[in-house]
Amino acid sequence: MSTPTLEGHSSALDAAENTAAHLVAITLRVRRFNPEVSADSEWVDYQIQVDPKERVLDALHKVKWEIDGSLTFRRSCAHGVCGSDAMRINGRNRLACKTLIKDVNPDQPITIEPIKGLTVLKDLVVDMDPFFQAYRDVMPFLITKGNEPTRERLQSAEDRERFDDTTKCILCAACTSSCPVFWNDGQYFGPAAIVNAHRFIFDSRDEGGEQRLEILNDKDGVWRCRTTFNCTDACPRGIEVTKAIQEVKRALITRRF
Ligand code: SF4
Ligand code: FES
Repeated sequence: MSTPTLEGHSSALDAAENTAAHLVAITLRVRRFNPEVSADSEWVDYQIQVDPKERVLDALHKVKWEIDGSLTFRRSCAHGVCGSDAMRINGRNRLACKTLIKDVNPDQPITIEPIKGLTVLKDLVVDMDPFFQAYRDVMPFLITKGNEPTRERLQSAEDRERFDDTTKCILCAACTSSCPVFWNDGQYFGPAAIVNAHRFIFDSRDEGGEQRLEILNDKDGVWRCRTTFNCTDACPRGIEVTKAIQEVKRALITRRF
């Protein structure tokens, strides 16, 4: 076992002082809602010290673990992969785990709200069932006819490229919940479902494109899109969501995909 030296002790102290020197005081202004306590939501401010290079998710953890354990939000991977921590940060949909404190104007209170258009269950947690129902409705899986092939289904690099962008979706709902059409009645399929339909409609191996197009030809389908580009701006994966929706519209008109 190694014996701690005075030198080692002082370098640990230096490291702690260095860390403290980087900390800044911020205010997290969180929209809180607990249906068991009140029918109304309210803003609650939390003053904490953070390193500006930390993420908003780290700041939320700090509040939850050190100040108020009842603060409720979803997160899993903490690395922009699972899509569970989309929220409105300073009025814009983002993933808390991909948003650095220094990028959200930490001199002012940082506002954090649940995403819009879906029923809030508690604090930052919304009911995702309607969102995932729209996803399921477009049949987000490969549909083929005939006998199973004896080898893998081949595809050219050009054919693969046609739907490459839409394979990147992590189903975070940042796009759908930033769409004013979706806010209005929540019946619109929404950008995320269309993105995931696009992923299969334009896959040369898939044979369910006509079915999916008919589903999206519905009164609550692609024609509800007003091309506001909110979805493209909101997507943390950089997917050209509006472009994908336009391609699906075009495929519906031309029946070429
Ligand atoms: S398209 Fe982008 S914003 Fe929409 S659900 Fe997928 S990853 Fe999230
Ligand atoms: S926690 Fe998984 S994407 Fe942010």
